[in-house]
Amino acid sequence: MANFLIEGENRIGGELPIHGAKNAALPILAAALLTRRSVLHNCPDLSDVRAAAHILEHLGCTVQREGDTVIVESDDGVYCDIPDGLMREMRSSVVFLGAILTRCGRARVSFPGGCELGPRPIDIHLASLERMGVNIKEDHGDLDCTIDGKMVGTELNLPFPSVGATENILLAAVLAEGTTVIHNAAREPEIQDLAGFLTAIGAKIHLKNDGTIVVEGVETLLPEVEYRVIPDRIATATYLCAAAATGGELLVTKTEPEYLAAVLPMFEEMGCQVKTGPDLIYLKGPRRLRPVRMVRTMPYPGFPTDAQAPFMALSTLAQGTSVFVENIFESRYKHAAELMRMGARIKVEGRVAVVEGVPALHSAQVRCTDLRGGAALCIAALAAAGVSRVSDIAHIERGYERLEEHLSSLGAKITRE
Ligand code: EPZ
Repeated sequence: MANFLIEGENRIGGELPIHGAKNAALPILAAALLTRRSVLHNCPDLSDVRAAAHILEHLGCTVQREGDTVIVESDDGVYCDIPDGLMREMRSSVVFLGAILTRCGRARVSFPGGCELGPRPIDIHLASLERMGVNIKEDHGDLDCTIDGKMVGTELNLPFPSVGATENILLAAVLAEGTTVIHNAAREPEIQDLAGFLTAIGAKIHLKNDGTIVVEGVETLLPEVEYRVIPDRIATATYLCAAAATGGELLVTKTEPEYLAAVLPMFEEMGCQVKTGPDLIYLKGPRRLRPVRMVRTMPYPGFPTDAQAPFMALSTLAQGTSVFVENIFESRYKHAAELMRMGARIKVEGRVAVVEGVPALHSAQVRCTDLRGGAALCIAALAAAGVSRVSDIAHIERGYERLEEHLSSLGAKITRE
C-alpha cells in the first residue's frame, strides 16, 4: 500500500476548483444502466468511480473517460449479476441492485461487505424492494432477486432516511407500475442529483420539501442523456479544513456553498473568516483556532457525517474543548487513535468524542482507517511539526482526486512513497 510523506507547518492556500461529487457520480453511474448512452460531465476520477465502471463493464456496458467526462454505453445484452469480488471492491455497489432489477427484471448480487464504519446493513433497501414486488432469496451469501412481471409502485415509510436505500428505491420506481411515495426519504444533494439525472432521461420524480419523494412510473425512458455531476461538498469541506488548520487563505471554486450551510458556520465559530459567492467559498484560517462547542452529525441538511473526521482533526488544535456526536454510523471514530499518536487529546465514549485542543501536534507514523479518517490524518499532518508518514492511502484515493497534486499546488510539502 502506498504512503504519503507530509512535512507540516506549511500554510495551505491559493485557489482550487473542486471535482465532481463521488456520492452523486456512483448512483448516477448505476442509473446509466437505464438508458443506452450517458455522457457524464464533472465525473471525478476516483478508485470508487473506477470500481463502478468495472461493474458496468461486467454487466455488458462500455465505459470510457475523456478528461472529466465519462461516457457509458449499454447495448441490449446486459447481464444481471455482480460477482462477489466486484461487489466487495466498493461498499456502495448495492446501489446497482435497483438499476439491474429495473433493466433486467432480476438480479443476483452478493451481500455487500461491511466496512470500516461498522456493519452496513441493507435491511431498509431489501424491505422496500420487497414491498415493490421483488422476491429476494438469500443463497450462500448471494441475494437472488426475481420479479413476477413488473415492480409495483407503493407507499414506503423509511425508518431512517437512508441515502443508499432512497437511491435504490428511485432506481426501482422509475419504470414501475403506478406511483411510489417515499416518506422520510434522504434529501442529500446527491439524491437530488440522481433524481435530476433520472428526470433528464424521462422519469417523473417530485422531491417535496417535507422529505417525501413521489415517483410516477413511466413506460419508457429516453435512449440518451448528457448530464453534469454536482460538486463534491465533502471534498470542499476537507480542503477548507486543511486551510483552516494551517492558518492559510483558500478560495475553493466550482463548488456549491449552499450544500455546506450546516458546515460553514462551524468554521466561523472556530474563528475562520468565510465568504461565499455563487460557486465559490473563501476561507481564511485564524492564527489560533477556537473550539467548536458541539458537532452533531445528522442527515442532510444537518452537519454531514462525512465531514466529522476532517473537523475533528481541525478541532485538535483549537484553544479549548470541542464535542462531537456521531449519530449516523456506529463506529466512525477510528481516526481518533491515529490523531492521538500525533499528540491530539481525544476521549471517545460510544457516539461521543471529546477533543481537548493542544497548542501543536507533532509528526508521527499514522495509518488510514477509512476514507474520511484518512483525510483527517492528512489535515493533522499538514499542521503538525515535522514529517509524518500517512500509510494505507488507498482509502483516501477512493474519494479524493489527485490529493497530493492539489495539496502541493496549495503549498503543502507532500510526496507519495
Ligand atoms: C452514503 O452511504 C454515503 N456513501 C456515505 O459516504 C455517507 O456517509 C452516508 O450516505 C450518510 O450520508 C455513498 O453515497 C456512496 P445510509 P450509505 O444508507 O448510503 C444505516 C463517504 O465517506 N442503514 O444513509 O451507506 C447505516 O448502517 C461515505 O463518502 C441501515 O441500518 O448511508 C448507517 O448507520 C461513507 N439499514 C445509516 O443508516 C439500511 O438498509 C446511514 O446509512 C441502510 C442504512
